[in-house]
Parts: sequence; C-alpha cells; structure tokens
Amino acid sequence: MKKNIFVANWKMNKTYSASLDFCNIHKQALHELTKQADIVLCPSFVAVSAMNQALKNSHVHIGAQTCSIHQKGAYTGQVDTQSLKEAGCTYGIAGHSEQRRDGYLTNDQVAHQVQRLLDASITPIICIGDTKEEFEQHQAHGILTHQLNPVLRIAQEYRVPIIIAYEPIWSIGTGIVPKFDYLQEIFLWLSQKLSREFPSKWDLLYGGSVNLDTIAMLKTIPHIDGFLIGDASLDFQKFEKIVSWKS
Ligand code: PGA
Repeated sequence: MKKNIFVANWKMNKTYSASLDFCNIHKQALHELTKQADIVLCPSFVAVSAMNQALKNSHVHIGAQTCSIHQKGAYTGQVDTQSLKEAGCTYGIAGHSEQRRDGYLTNDQVAHQVQRLLDASITPIICIGDTKEEFEQHQAHGILTHQLNPVLRIAQEYRVPIIIAYEPIWSIGTGIVPKFDYLQEIFLWLSQKLSREFPSKWDLLYGGSVNLDTIAMLKTIPHIDGFLIGDASLDFQKFEKIVSWKS
C-alpha cells in the first residue's frame, strides 16, 4: 500500500540544539514511523547537516524550508540548492505563503526555486494557497491556477516526481480548516488538473492547522497523499499520533 507523506515544517520554532535533541531522543520512534509513512523534517538551515548525521540509517528525510532562486553568486544571505543537497536535504519547500507574503516571492520566482531544487535532485514541495478574501469570493481555482502554471511549465521538463501542498492561507496557524465538501472539491480539481498536465508522478498534500482535532476529518478526503504540518509537528508525541491516526 502507498505510504502517506508527513512533512514537519518547523519554521523558526526550534533552535539548533532543540532540533538535534528532537532527533536524538526520538530517533528510534521516528524510524518506526517510517514503516507506515514517509517522514520529512524541515528544520532551519543551520540544523540540516547535524540532523542528517543524527538520523543516519533511520529512513527519515530532511527538507529545506526555502532556497535561493539563484545557482550561485553575489546574493548575501541566500542558500543554494547544491549546498542543501550536500548537507543532506532530499526535499525542499518552495513558495510557502510565509515566503510569498508581501510580494517577497512571485509565482515566477517560485518556479525558479523549483528549477533550482530539481537541478540539485531535490524533490520540491510546492506550496499554493488562497487568502480568506479570495476564498470568500470563490477565486481559489483562478489563484491556484496562476500559482501552479509557471511551476508545472518548468517542472515537466525534468520528468521527475513533484509534491504540491495546498495550504489555504487563512488556515495556517489559525486552528480553522476548510469544510469537508470544499476540500473534497478542491483536491479532486487539483488531481484532475495534474493528471492532465503533469507527465510524471505527483503527490498532493494538505497543510494548515493539521492537528489532533482536525486529522480525523482530513484523513477521509480523497486525493490527499499526505500533510504539511507546522505547529503540531513541534511536539513528537502529537506528530506521532497524527501520523499514526487511523479511522
Ligand atoms: P500550521 O502550519 O500547521 O501551524 O497551521 C502549516 C504550515 O505553515 O505549513
């Protein structure tokens, strides 16, 4: 049976030492979780390499939270995907809404991030999502199409798997998740679009307030292959329960 994917996006919530403690204390339990699911932990850049060492032979994957759109050069403070690969990242988040906000990353720049990740043989986790206003005005399909099209144009040249994470912006960190019917419709629409337009393998994740109160409903929605989890991934026991939750 196909495994679901659970991506822990720690954002800037764990220090270097807290990230390493999480891995050292829970290494065996994390390894056990990989028997039922694909597990990807996304710490801050500075913890990537040490976590990769700490989790050796555990089958847990390390992901980057973002990356530069450039290959190399005079870009002070930015991190290139080749270095991320060498440090141990096999996954990379592109276009998280906290990176897109205030126009910091445009749709075309997210596509360039995806290109850089694919050049480094890192599987991209591409975030797309609508605001509350866009949701209320029934604009989600249009917004998501705008976000997806530049990415799909670039990614289809590589003929390798990609991951798309639908995260309604109004759901991130708020405890509010969209209703079952809405999510069922959006994920059906996304899977039909990807089946038509993307030649290689793809997976669809849901992100935004995935926690112990919402996971029961979320796990019943068709066409969801996994989850991108912020807050509830910081505590191992919560994360473990979410991954193992069965109806
Ligand atoms: P949340 O964050 O689970 O805390 O809502 C999800 C995300 O930002 O990816």
